[in-house]
Amino acid sequence: MTTINRNYRKLQGSYLFSNIAGKVAAFSQKHPEAEIIRLGIGDVTQPLAPAILKALHRAVDEMGDAATFHGYAPDLGYDFLRNAIAREDYEARGCQISPEEIFISDGAKSDCGNIQEIFGTDNRVAVCDPVYPVYVDTNVMAGRTGEFDRERGNYRGIIYMPCREEEGFVPQLPQETPDLIYLCFPNNPTGAAITRERLQEWVDYANRTGAVILYDAAYEAYISEPKLPHSIYECEGARECAIEFRSFSKNAGFTGVRLGFTVVPKSLKRDGAQLWDLWARRHGTRFNGAPYLVQRAGEAVYTPEGKSQLAGQIAYYMENARIIREGLAGAGFTVYGGVNAPYIWLKTPEGMKSWEFFDYLLEKARVVGTPGEGFGACGEGYFRLTAFGDRENTRRAVERICRL
Ligand SMILES: Cc1ncc(COP(=O)(O)O)c(C=O)c1O
Repeated sequence: MTTINRNYRKLQGSYLFSNIAGKVAAFSQKHPEAEIIRLGIGDVTQPLAPAILKALHRAVDEMGDAATFHGYAPDLGYDFLRNAIAREDYEARGCQISPEEIFISDGAKSDCGNIQEIFGTDNRVAVCDPVYPVYVDTNVMAGRTGEFDRERGNYRGIIYMPCREEEGFVPQLPQETPDLIYLCFPNNPTGAAITRERLQEWVDYANRTGAVILYDAAYEAYISEPKLPHSIYECEGARECAIEFRSFSKNAGFTGVRLGFTVVPKSLKRDGAQLWDLWARRHGTRFNGAPYLVQRAGEAVYTPEGKSQLAGQIAYYMENARIIREGLAGAGFTVYGGVNAPYIWLKTPEGMKSWEFFDYLLEKARVVGTPGEGFGACGEGYFRLTAFGDRENTRRAVERICRL
């Protein structure tokens, strides 16, 4: 008889954003006239920049001509894109990452979900709390955790690293020693950033203990403070202990286009193996390459026109972030984030539970945000708003919240 992967039974409810979508749909059905402003899911709203559209159009035309048609892409990505990334994202920041160490994919969600597959199921996993849920759920599915502990509100067997207000939402080194450490900076959901010195402590810790850091830098383009690291490879020794994930979703609006990459340095070895080899094998076996069109669009991100147009888009979202942050702070809310990240992390007023505040905001202001508790037990009492809305809606949402 067929059996299932019983680890799936440990998963809690449906994915956070499906829960939110369900609640919003039920509310809309009850109040069809209600005009709801969505600042919940971190999806972009600005159209693709002209330089990217131009590259896409050109690539579409190439696909219509036998002489320039492209079939399967190389498993690990086209050289034109890997070279541009190595040069612009790494060499320009003083990091030693070669094009072969860059694996092109369809996005950071797939990569940071799939990466755990190259590690043994007996590895201990450490995550921040609150956390982007993909890191946890994919390890639950793989059987690297125990059951969900209702009382604690999290899974047994995972090392949760609380990210507290008083510590700028950056975790302390854990008491128990993990094998795999997920870090994400600038952070989703708290909007916190990490300094180079603090990140160096993590790199030194991983090299000391033999752990591997899985560093999600999906929001690096939003860093506004010049001294903050954009890549973990800006730290000494990171090539020996870290894998980095990047996405084109937030810096270039590719959430619906789909493109990302993972960096696995060839010098990263564990358990007698080069992790590069394992990831190359995994990628080549399970993934048939990101589309040519999309990789050409990705290349355009690094052209002078692309860079300048995208800087404008990021500035647009960060102005939204400022409007939310300053508007809510002015109305007496305690707010964090929104300076080096497109997320504002606010404290729910009067000790309200985060789902309670979600319902309250939907009911009274018709604004949708994301309850902090959905990101982990330490997210309770907080609420995330995104700066990815359009300007008008962002302004109106802030006005409505401030009027409550
Ligand atoms: C921290 C983090 N990593 C990865 C992703 C997913 O990125 P992608 O669209 O490239 O799959 C997101 C999306 O919201 C995210 O917040």
